[in-house]
Amino acid sequence: MSRTFTIIKPDSMRKKAEGKIIDILLSHGFRIAAMRATRLSQEKAGEFYAIHKEKVFFDELMEYMTSGPVIVAVLERDDAVAELRRVVGATNPQKAEPGTIRAMFGKDVTENAIHASDSDENARIEAAHFFSEEDYCL
Ligand code: CMP
Repeated sequence: MSRTFTIIKPDSMRKKAEGKIIDILLSHGFRIAAMRATRLSQEKAGEFYAIHKEKVFFDELMEYMTSGPVIVAVLERDDAVAELRRVVGATNPQKAEPGTIRAMFGKDVTENAIHASDSDENARIEAAHFFSEEDYCL
């Protein structure tokens, strides 16, 4: 059993797609270890995406990720990081496999519906931005 971290992004919340997305995650065997709705401040988003600070899309990413509420969650199942990335699909929803969350709910590389950690180490680091040990129910 392993854990990964996800953010259901502002475009999904504006479309009221968060229920459908959580349902898809559960149907793929993920269990919710911790979850809450929040709104990222500029400071929090800047810390979370610090690795992208020099990228040309950083300002756009900040504006978008702070544009409305999100749901942050830690999910648990076997091979959680790889499985979530498979269910989420490619960064660009136009190139994502049919049936993936980004193919179903994303629009473009910025408004791409959902975040999924890319490694076990990053999952731990990203989850720690939002949750502490006492928040985990599993
Ligand atoms: P995410 O996986 O949440 O983490 C990094 C984010 O940067 C990624 O989702 C995209 O939303 C965003 N991103 C990556 N590449 C680009 C790009 N070329 N233009 C705009 N945003 C991007």
